[in-house]
Amino acid sequence: MIRMAIELAAPVKINLTLHVTGRRPDGYHLLDSLVVFASLGDRLWVEPAEEMALQLSGPFSRGVPADGRNLVWRAAELAGQVLRIRLEKNLPHGAGIGGGSADAAAILRAFDAPQRAIELGADVPVCLSSRPQRMQGIGDRLSRAETVPALPLVLANPGVSLPTPAVFKALSEPENNDMGELPAWPDRDGFLDWLGAQRNDLERPARGLAPVIGDVLAALSGAGAGLARMSGSGASCFGLFPSEAAAEAAADRISRAHPGWWVRSAVTIPGADL
Ligand code: C5P
Repeated sequence: MIRMAIELAAPVKINLTLHVTGRRPDGYHLLDSLVVFASLGDRLWVEPAEEMALQLSGPFSRGVPADGRNLVWRAAELAGQVLRIRLEKNLPHGAGIGGGSADAAAILRAFDAPQRAIELGADVPVCLSSRPQRMQGIGDRLSRAETVPALPLVLANPGVSLPTPAVFKALSEPENNDMGELPAWPDRDGFLDWLGAQRNDLERPARGLAPVIGDVLAALSGAGAGLARMSGSGASCFGLFPSEAAAEAAADRISRAHPGWWVRSAVTIPGADL
């Protein structure tokens, strides 16, 4: 019998905003975040097997566990599957852009087992869909944000891995104000104006731990980004550009100035097809 591996995509996750609105007694933080995805990311190939096996490849596979500690392995177990998994790590990890959460979500989605995603991590449920969503609670309350437009952007990571718990720990008191009711943005400019007035509350503690984040934000702004902000708990940042061509040119320029950084241009997946 010839068994065909199925290929799964794990798109990069970008937190356009991230307000920390409170803290639960168990230490988990309450969030209000607008999340989007773009079509670059990790890739997986999976096929049924006699026993679980995980093989890693790709530019960011170093240091990633290839056993039961890996979220894809745990996702397969939650989905009741015994799989041979090949995982191509194209995204930096510990980077605030999904990574392991998106990989795990790809498995849960493929095997129709989304219900227990939150058990694998706060970012896993949002990664089950690649559309823009508002994420609240600890990441378990999701709603579609259908009017978010496609956004050309540059993603940049300075090669520093930041553990999420350390960033949350370095956060002083949460600000307590959420994003309020999401407006019906009249157009792209209206959306960008609104976005500019939001924030990522983890940016300040993350910059305290990794000051190079300030350099990344400055490089994005210096290359012409209309808005530059950190994603998730960092250290990856994004910069928004008026066009795909402008984003590509900026990514080129930043890459040349900082050859050690991971820099990519992409266009985010919009809330609804035109
Ligand atoms: O759920 P996940 O494994 O992604 O979270 C890693 C850590 O980040 C948690 O153990 C917690 O310290 C912190 N965290 C938090 N509030 C969230 C999500 C994560 O405090 N909403």
